[in-house]
Amino acid sequence: MILPFSIIVAVDQADGIGLQGRLPWHLSGDMKHFKTITSETQDPCKKNIVIMGRKTWESIPDTFKPLKNRYNVVLSRQGRLDLPEGVWPAKTFADIGPVIDQQIHRDRCENIFVIGGAQIYEQAVQDPHCQRIFLTRVMKTFSCDAFFTSYHHRFIERQRSDTMTEKDITYYFSEFQRKD
Ligand SMILES: NC(=O)c1ccc[n+]([C@@H]2O[C@H](COP(=O)([O-])OP(=O)(O)OC[C@H]3O[C@@H](n4cnc5c(N)ncnc54)[C@H](OP(=O)(O)O)[C@@H]3O)[C@@H](O)[C@H]2O)c1
Repeated sequence: MILPFSIIVAVDQADGIGLQGRLPWHLSGDMKHFKTITSETQDPCKKNIVIMGRKTWESIPDTFKPLKNRYNVVLSRQGRLDLPEGVWPAKTFADIGPVIDQQIHRDRCENIFVIGGAQIYEQAVQDPHCQRIFLTRVMKTFSCDAFFTSYHHRFIERQRSDTMTEKDITYYFSEFQRKD
């Protein structure tokens, strides 16, 4: 991608992020955190962009999608995707720049977030424009079939919140920054 962007992700203690196309946990505090980070803008006339893989798009319940007050972009190599109005498809990471410039318009956007899933995170961390990771650490190990591990050697933790506990699950919010 040609613009700076951040990743936002929730991982368990073994860097698990998903099971059978879903999140392995339901933490309302983390959902709220995700909504705040991805929706807030300094300029009230602008919105943020959320970029996700086709499988993550399909995992969001119909009542919650498109994610409100954010420009939704869905990555898929398929020619035809059945997306509602106001959701933009992109066939490659390189296509996202032109989609932003020509369809969403750069002056209407503030921040860009990659919101998953595993395939998209793995590609996004390799891009030097990926500067920050907002990471929720869930302090338990769940059964998972999707993981996000490749940030460890490229990113360094800069901030960490206090821990929170919900339904016997303890978690905290971290911010990581690219090392180079
Ligand atoms: N814990 C978290 O924070 C978090 C966040 C989000 C998702 N998740 C979890 O992650 C899991 C889903 O991850 P996933 O890896 O299976 O799927 P995904 O990354 O959401 O989507 C994969 C799809 O994206 C498209 N794609 C991948 N690379 C592309 C590229 N370079 N250009 C264009 N399209 C590309 C392909 O779509 P086509 O097949 O249509 O071509 C591919 O099948 C679920 O369990 C979900 O709940 C967890």
